[in-house]
Amino acid sequence: MTTREQVLQALQSVNDPEWSRSVVELNLIKDIVVKQDSVSLTYIVSAGTNDAGKDLRRGAVLDALQQLQPGEIRIRFRDMTEFERQEVEKARSASKDPHAPPSQAGKPASSILSPESGVEFIAVASGKGGVGKSTVTVNLAVALARRGKKVGIVDADIYGFSVPDMMGIEETPQLVNERIVPVERFGVKVISMGFFVQDNAPVIWRGPMLGKMLRNFFHEVDWGDVEIILLDLPPGTGDVALDVHQMIPHSQEIIVTTPHATAAFVAARAGAMARSTNHELLGVVENMAYYECGKCGEKDYVFGRGGGAKLADELHTQLLAQLPLGAPDNHPSEPDYAPSVYKADSPTGQLYLKLADAVLDYM
Ligand SMILES: Nc1ncnc2c1ncn2[C@@H]1O[C@H](COP(=O)(O)OP(=O)(O)O)[C@@H](O)[C@H]1O
Ligand SMILES: [Mg+2]
Repeated sequence: MTTREQVLQALQSVNDPEWSRSVVELNLIKDIVVKQDSVSLTYIVSAGTNDAGKDLRRGAVLDALQQLQPGEIRIRFRDMTEFERQEVEKARSASKDPHAPPSQAGKPASSILSPESGVEFIAVASGKGGVGKSTVTVNLAVALARRGKKVGIVDADIYGFSVPDMMGIEETPQLVNERIVPVERFGVKVISMGFFVQDNAPVIWRGPMLGKMLRNFFHEVDWGDVEIILLDLPPGTGDVALDVHQMIPHSQEIIVTTPHATAAFVAARAGAMARSTNHELLGVVENMAYYECGKCGEKDYVFGRGGGAKLADELHTQLLAQLPLGAPDNHPSEPDYAPSVYKADSPTGQLYLKLADAVLDYM
């Protein structure tokens, strides 16, 4: 059985994001109760610590305790008393950490959802999973950044998040002044459910929690001076997809489909959902449109032909791009490795730059 000492030892390496010191050193963990198949504890935080801040702390504690395999882990949060606060401050000044960032006064939170922010939203949707919605989101974002735009991605595919892995992101966001700072990769700021879930655990949050999480992504994330935010939406036209559509702000929407007639048929429903939730259709992207022979340059339309154009027609919008089959030619040994990001000078990378130009034209 796990002991209290083991718990404290495991938590020694967990730094509190506000104080930049070990939670054990600052005595922020209280009421540790270890039972046969569970550990429960209380984490004391400054009054006013928001949900995002708690989620981040919860994640760090869960991560640290996982190695003990203590069974269920229950974490409660409680505001610290004035006395506790003085104790924590004392402990902090007594300990020295040359790497600790100076704590700054809290800046007023500005929401990127407010019209004055001037941020444009582009939602990327699909009729079903597996058509390349996330691949398109990631590569369009990178292409827009390569064109000099200030770009962010909200991985709003809250159950099927994959953006961090696809971009080769290994770090998690930092908390500065109680606001989450997105992870930046290839010039794109990224925020994803994947950052708040440990060990790829399934997300069991539903309904209201999901909405809360998404709102955090907009309100409690410090986006800096971003111009365009791409949203990787959940696939399909079910409840989750509808909920997320309704939660996110007025935005332009790109529908991703494969060229197969039935795929395009399903994608048409996603287009209808976009319209019914006041998203403006920017156009259709046909992914896996063809396979181009590396030797002879001939195009083989393996999944059929014309689905994207027909869909664009039906939705009274334009076909923005046709992207070929083929994974990026990247290797894990490269310094800037990402499994799903095409290099700028590769043929598909060039097509994504053209897609970025088309998007900027139509926006
Ligand atoms: N044009 C393409 N050529 C080859 N593989 C692709 C292409 N686009 C996507 N894929 C692969 O297909 C799978 C599904 O793509 P993904 O972007 O995750 O789809 P979705 O987000 O729609 O579920 C992934 O393994 C991805 O790497
Ligand atoms: Mg996806």
